[in-house]
Amino acid sequence: MQIHFCKKRKLFRLETENSSCLFRIGPGGELRHIWYGGKVEVDTILEEFADRMGTSSFSPQPEGLTPDDSPDLLPLEYSAFGCSDFRITAAALRKENGTSVTSLIYRSHKILKGKKVLPGLPSSFSKTKDSMTLEVTMEDGFSGAGVILSYSIFADSDVIARSVRVSNPTKTTVRIEKLLSAQLDFHHADFDVIYLKGMWGKERQAVRHRLLPGRQCISSSRGSTGHQYNPGIVFAEPSATENVGDVYGMLLLYSGNYIAEAECDQYQTLRALIGINPENFEWKLEPNETFYAPEALLFFSDKGIGGLSRISHKFLMDHVIRSPWGHRKRPILINNWEATYFDFNNEKIFQIAKEASKLGIEMLVLDDGWFGERNDDRSSLGDWFVNKKKLGNLASLVRKINKLNMKFGLWFEPEMISENSQLYRKHPDWVLHVPGGKKSIGRTQMVLDMSRTDVVDYLFHTISDVLHSANIEYIKWDMNRNLTEIYSQLLPPDRQKETAHRYVLGVYQLHERLLEEFPNLLIEGCSGGGGRFDAGMLYYAPQIWCSDNSDALDRISIQMGTSLFYPSSAMGAHVSVCPNHQTRRTVPFTMRGHVALSGTFGYELDITKLSDEEKELVRQQIQNYHEWNNIVREGNHYRLTENFGQTNIAAWSWVSQDQKKVLVTVIRKNSEPCGINPPLHLKLRGLDPDKLYELDDKRRSHGKTLMNAGIRIPNAMQDAFSIIFHLNATE
Ligand code: DGJ
Repeated sequence: MQIHFCKKRKLFRLETENSSCLFRIGPGGELRHIWYGGKVEVDTILEEFADRMGTSSFSPQPEGLTPDDSPDLLPLEYSAFGCSDFRITAAALRKENGTSVTSLIYRSHKILKGKKVLPGLPSSFSKTKDSMTLEVTMEDGFSGAGVILSYSIFADSDVIARSVRVSNPTKTTVRIEKLLSAQLDFHHADFDVIYLKGMWGKERQAVRHRLLPGRQCISSSRGSTGHQYNPGIVFAEPSATENVGDVYGMLLLYSGNYIAEAECDQYQTLRALIGINPENFEWKLEPNETFYAPEALLFFSDKGIGGLSRISHKFLMDHVIRSPWGHRKRPILINNWEATYFDFNNEKIFQIAKEASKLGIEMLVLDDGWFGERNDDRSSLGDWFVNKKKLGNLASLVRKINKLNMKFGLWFEPEMISENSQLYRKHPDWVLHVPGGKKSIGRTQMVLDMSRTDVVDYLFHTISDVLHSANIEYIKWDMNRNLTEIYSQLLPPDRQKETAHRYVLGVYQLHERLLEEFPNLLIEGCSGGGGRFDAGMLYYAPQIWCSDNSDALDRISIQMGTSLFYPSSAMGAHVSVCPNHQTRRTVPFTMRGHVALSGTFGYELDITKLSDEEKELVRQQIQNYHEWNNIVREGNHYRLTENFGQTNIAAWSWVSQDQKKVLVTVIRKNSEPCGINPPLHLKLRGLDPDKLYELDDKRRSHGKTLMNAGIRIPNAMQDAFSIIFHLNATE
């Protein structure tokens, strides 16, 4: 790991173990991008990469420079609107004279030890100080505002954490119209783009296609990440597979409106950008104030898409997930939602806990419906007071459950409010809405204005009171609709476009305050399933419920898609009842276990109604969890089939860091004639080629054989066929 500045060449160089990133200061003070990718040495051939890519009088240059210096023709490190860069640009600052024309000129830089966290925002951290940061200060030639580009690198990872802040040392107001977090200019556009699309119940389905000329983007304007697209994007050589090829990734640590954009320009080069969605965004920066844009992570791997995923998994676990639970084995939970929905009382919950404890389940999570007068989804959000009619005394219920040797967890939906609630009757102005206008209603609920400190204070105190009242060790933080009529009663007209970002800052602040008060609290993020599965949330919540769709067949592409960026330890996955409540499909109990064991693992069914045979399977699954979870959490994850689980056969594995233990899961969704299917020789990955591995059935094979020739997977004439097997190195 090294950051170096060569004065003579005016060249910055960042080196991680397997990647290099270079840029230099151009004659106009612009930062010219030279290279990001596999390792390189600086020479004159490489330095030419910073030169213009084409020529045309339609690409003007700043006064005093030559046509070679037109920003429109150059690979740039960070671009700005209005001075001849006609591609999508990263920044636009509006001045008091009304112009948004922005011109960024190098002023100074600092190379620092360590990595600072961003105030009020999730960001990567480095506990060991084995990290370095480069800060380059640019100045907007039109306003005098400072735009500080920050690059951090880490000794143990091929990741560059980038962020941008604007400081206003002038005497006038600057309005930030656009401030994206990271830009990557490539010297060609010959890439496939990979991203995660979805909908409720079908989140994070991986999509891959060739980049086309022109602009392409994924984004959210829902106020939250959303089920539709995930805030990350991958550019892969067209020949790249799971195991080979150069692959780049950009991932945003943010949970609000975002955009990831790509433009293939006239010279067939690619500009990629990621950051806060500029649609309906603006930030008023007064003199002496600073605005921080969220952090973006850049990944590079020459080991294919799988290689990139493993870099991301490890980095998120070591440098983003802050909870003490990040690396810890999580309690096996049972959630009552699909068992009871709103129809429960103290006794029913206790019976579920009692039966669950007999089988070895370690935590009861009480879902929606325990508060206010909530017996369906039409009331009481915001009234975070125990419904005593239903539950009696919560503390004594929790004590009884603790006596069963089980922990207790509770559901909240902090950001929401029901019209039929004490809170709404008292504070109708706390709801996001435009005064005098109609409000949009979703699931009969509205959204609290989290940009207000009084709202965040209220939530902190009411939630803390509940958490202090009983031994509650986990919360599920749900969020069941997107934001509309984004208008805050407390902000002046010229700050209304700050509301959506201030909302997200309020959500982060509430997390922060609760975790300060309850440092060991395990938070599971959730948003109608996986509608807010992002790296920003993972900073606070080490696990996130992947999807409300718990059908094990559908979960394969959801979980494999999620694994593009996110580690198995973060994926909330449960065994639920069949016919499945979302798809009406029935698949074997064993297969449901195999899929749930690939995530955090738990149950979401009425355990009191299981047959003896199913209870025996639960016991086995729990034993498997205890045996295997260490490797699922801490091992290197390999997708052994292409296409992220969207094909008939899907397989994945984890390999322990010392390559001595391997766990392989294989699913065949639909049976094929003759049971042939065709014979599948599954090539394993990540083994030590020279080690001799022993399978569960005592057969032995070398790592090189298993990786080069593969292993034949048994067939069975059945749909939803699944197997798990282990390999242990013999010495
Ligand atoms: C949506 C969540 O995804 C479900 O698991 C459940 O908690 C419901 N909300 C409760 O309303």
